[in-house]
Parts: sequence; structure tokens; C-alpha cells
Amino acid sequence: MLSGKNILIGITGGIAAYKICELIRMFKRQNANVKVVCTPNALNFVTKLTLQNLSQNNVAVDEFDIPDYKPEHISYADEADIMVIAPATANTISKIANGTCDNLLTSIVCAFKKPVIIAPAMNCNMWENPISEDNMEKLYRLGYEILEPESGFLACGYEGKGRLCSLEKIFDRTVEILQSQNKLSGQKIVITAGGTIENIDPVRYISNYSSGKMGIALADVASSQGAEVVLISTVDVNRKYNVVKVKSAFEMQEAVNAEFASANCIIMAAAVADYRVKNVSDQKLKKTFEDTITLELVKNPDILKEISAKKTTQTVVGFCAESENLIQNAKEKIAKKGCDYLIANDISRKDIGFSSDYNEVTILSCDGSMKKLERSNKREIAKQIFEVIYGQKETCTDNREFCTSTTC
Ligand code: CTP
Repeated sequence: MLSGKNILIGITGGIAAYKICELIRMFKRQNANVKVVCTPNALNFVTKLTLQNLSQNNVAVDEFDIPDYKPEHISYADEADIMVIAPATANTISKIANGTCDNLLTSIVCAFKKPVIIAPAMNCNMWENPISEDNMEKLYRLGYEILEPESGFLACGYEGKGRLCSLEKIFDRTVEILQSQNKLSGQKIVITAGGTIENIDPVRYISNYSSGKMGIALADVASSQGAEVVLISTVDVNRKYNVVKVKSAFEMQEAVNAEFASANCIIMAAAVADYRVKNVSDQKLKKTFEDTITLELVKNPDILKEISAKKTTQTVVGFCAESENLIQNAKEKIAKKGCDYLIANDISRKDIGFSSDYNEVTILSCDGSMKKLERSNKREIAKQIFEVIYGQKETCTDNREFCTSTTC
């Protein structure tokens, strides 16, 4: 299953380090080339000799303990197809989140451009520490794949969340990522994200609650699956793929049009303002003696409708945010917009959608078929959206309002 794949395993100083011996064997059984890098503290829990024997490779620990000069961290980072850090201690997670490079393992991660899986394991109080939570959140946001620890009896005597997740989970996710690395290669995918900002005057604007998280998740997944990604975003995004920052609907329209001809797929996940202020004031508007004021609004271009009308080979995907009659409104909207797919979002729910890390959507296709994706984190939803768009997952063509993954 893993012939020709280079897996770099990073082990840090936690008691779960001993479990990684078995993980190495699991990868080796599938013919992967496994290399191991340890922090010095990891060797308090597992020996170098054991890891060397199991991986059938030298185990690296100290970047200066080498016979000839060679920038080890760069060559390790270049060679591997994926890096799996397990167990990842609170200390190493903090260093990675802050770009610290004080040992070989952290230096490699800093230079690593391919997917990195992090499987934390620590005492439950350390896991719940807000500093650890912030570090995890930052790593998740930056595109690291986090396999959260499980709850149970901990080696330190506590009971709570902090146990290394199962080796099967780490193994399965590694295989899944390796196998999907080139799924979208050769595809140029343009994605919009965030809510547009329509100025009133130099200090005020009209906008909406869109956080951009769904669009960013789509861009992250497309990029990790080998696509060339252009993310046109109203929110700041710091990623390795191409990000075009825009503000207004007009700027977004211009950016989309510039990428349109060369794109294979365009996904309009942004919440575009339907109207803008007719006369934007150059100067700050002053308070008047009147109790009410009126702002005159004019219609913005409907970017999705325009690109759907002129598409040739491109797949065009829209999103629709509805607070009532989700499916009925979505059906009308896909017909009105003329796009290939419409992802319907229920924004009345607090546990999904705007600002949330989670979503639950129904994908409508222009052929009348539908697929409901159960509540999941936005990256998982993004993955499944690509599976539908690229025909790896079936939609249902009967007349049921909802098609669930179990019945389809
Ligand atoms: N959209 C667009 N240009 C606009 C408005 C919306 O390209 N001026 C796109 C959005 O990016 C989204 C889709 O159209 O992909 C649907 O957006 P939504 O706000 O749900 O629909 P609207 O067309 O704005 O209709 P309404 O607000 O009346 O529901």
C-alpha cells in the first residue's frame, strides 16, 4: 500500500513514545520507507537502537552529531512525503506553533512543506491549558493535521483527555493523506472566501458575519490534494498557496474574472453583499440633527450568475446561505444562478455555518441530484465536497429531500 512512500516519524518525550515502535512496524509492513527523528527527551522513553532496528534506518536526534557537514533538517524535510509527530508533547507543540527550531525535530518541521500530522499526548490539565489550546488552534488554522488525544486513564494517574489516539487512527489518516496527495493535481481551483466589505465612508462599512472558514478549508484541502489554488479572500490568510486579498464585491468580481479563463473549477464560498452604498463619502459622515438618516444602496454584480453564464469547461460551484426553507430556496437558487453545484447552508443553526468550525450542508447538482453531508468540521466537509464535484462520491437522483451517505 505504501511502496515508494517516505514517511518521517517524529517522536517527542512522552510516555506514549513506546507505542510508536508498533506504528513503525505498521508502516514497514506496507513497504513504506520510514525514517525516525527524536527529540533528546524521547530517548528517555524508547531507545535509539529499537527505533533503528524497526525502521531499518539511522535514527536522527542531534543536528550537530554528524560525521560530515550536511544540513540534516533540510534533507529530511525534502525527502519525506509526510511527517507524523507522535506523541507530540505540549512543549514541542508550543515550539512548532511559535517557529522555534532548537532541536533537529523542530528544525525539520519548520522546513517541512508537505503534510504534517500531529498526534498530541499529555496530561489532561496540560491539554486543557489555554496556552496549549491556543497553540493547537494556531496549528489547525495553519493547515497541520491534528489527531486529538482520547479520554481515559493516563499514565500520570489522572483520568481525562490526553491519551495518544489509537495507532490505527494515525496509520489510517497517514495512508489517506498519502493516497489523496495527487487527487487534484493538474487542476486549477479558484475559491472565494469571507464577506465582502462595502464602504460607507472612510471609517464605516456594510458587511456580514461570514468568517471565511469554509472557503479557507476548501482551499486547504484542494492544495493538500495537489491542486493549484487561488484563494480570493476578504480575510487575511497566511498560506503557501496564492491568496488574493480583496474587499468589495467589485474587487472580488475583478479578481474572479482575472482567474476565470485558466481555472478548471471556481467555488464561490464568499458571502457577497447584494448591495453597495450608492455614494460613498470621501470624508467621514457627520452626525446630523435628524433622528434617522437614509443610505441609498445599489445592486452589486452577481458574480456567480455572470461566471455561470460564460463558463465553457469550468465547473462552477456556488454556496447558498438560507435561514429558512433551505432545500426549496436552494433548488430555486441553483436554477436562477445556472451553476453546476450549489452547497446549501442553514445559517439559522448556531452549531454550524457562520464563524463555526463545523458545517452541515446539502450539495445540489444541476442534474437534480442531492447529497447531504452530515455535521462535521469544515475541512472534512470540504474533502467531501471535492469528492462529489470530482465524481468520487455518488449523489442521489431520486426525489427525496435529503440523501444521506448511508442510503446513497
Ligand atoms: N453571489 C455572488 N454575487 C452576489 C451575491 C451572491 O456571486 N452579488 C454568490 C455567493 O458567493 C454564493 C451564491 O451567490 O455562492 C449565493 O449567495 P446567497 O447570498 O445565498 O444568494 P443571493 O444571490 O445573494 O440571494 P439572496 O441573498 O436573496 O438569498
